[in-house]
Amino acid sequence: MSTPRFADFQRILFFTGAGLSAESGIPTYRGSGGIWAEYDYEDYACQRAFVRDPEKVWDFHDKRRAAVGACEPNDGHRIIAEVQRERAGTSVVTQNIDGLHQRSGATGVVELHGSLWRVRCDREHIVRDDTSVPMSPRKCSCGAYWRPDIVWFEDALDQRTLERAHELLASCDLLVSVGTSGVVYPAAELPRIAMRSGATTVEINLDDTPVSPLYQHRLRGTASDMLASMR
Ligand code: OAD
Repeated sequence: MSTPRFADFQRILFFTGAGLSAESGIPTYRGSGGIWAEYDYEDYACQRAFVRDPEKVWDFHDKRRAAVGACEPNDGHRIIAEVQRERAGTSVVTQNIDGLHQRSGATGVVELHGSLWRVRCDREHIVRDDTSVPMSPRKCSCGAYWRPDIVWFEDALDQRTLERAHELLASCDLLVSVGTSGVVYPAAELPRIAMRSGATTVEINLDDTPVSPLYQHRLRGTASDMLASMR
C-alpha cells in the first residue's frame, strides 16, 4: 500500500503524542530516559501529591517549564502547521502539554491533557495563561496554590475538550497518529472514532505499539521524516 499524501485529503486530523516533541529534545514519558522512569507520578503528577506537598510538585513543574521553554518546535511541528495553513479542514488533537504546536503556528489545538503554560485556582475557579519560569507567585490572591492546568494521573479529562476531540475525529477523512504509545486512556481510545467513521488511518512511530494493528498504514521512523514523506 502506498503512503497516503496530504494532498489527497480535505479534513486531516493529527493526533499527537510525546514522540512528536522528542526531536525538539523533550523526553517522552515511557521507555528508557522517559519521565516516568525517573519520577514517580505518585509524588509529582497527581492531585494527591499536590495536596500533600504543593511546593515539591511545583518544583518538578518548574523544572519541566525551564526544560520545555528552552526547546524549539521541530520540523514535525512545522509540517503539521504548514498542512493546516494549506488545508483549512486540518485539525490537531494533542496529548502534549508543551505548547510546541502553538509555537510552530498551529491553531485551534485541542489539548487533551491541558497545558504546562496554564494555571488554575480550584478555589476561585480561575484559569489563566502563565509562562513565567519559575512560575511565580505560586499562590493566587485568595491564598490557595495555583495548580498546573494539566490532566494528571487519576484526573478526568475536561468534558468539553473531549467533546471537541470527538467531533473532529468523527469528521476527519485522514487520521495521522504521531509519536504516541497508545496506552493512556481515554486518549488512546479516540483514534477508534475516526476508524469507525471510515477515515484513512496512519500511525507514525519509531516502533510498533499495542494499537498498531488497528491502523491501515504504519510508517516507521522519526516523526519529522515520516510526516515529510506524506507531503
Ligand atoms: P509515551 O512516552 O507514552 O510514548 C511516546 C511514543 O513516541 C513511543 O511510542 C515512542 O516509540 C514514540 N517516539 C519516540 N520518539 C519518536 C520520534 N522521534 N518519532 C516518532 N515517534 C517517536 O508518550 P504519549 O503516548 O504521548 O500524560 O503519552 C501519553 C500520555 O502519558 C501523556 O500525555 C502524558 C503521559 O502520562 C499526562 O501527562 C497527563
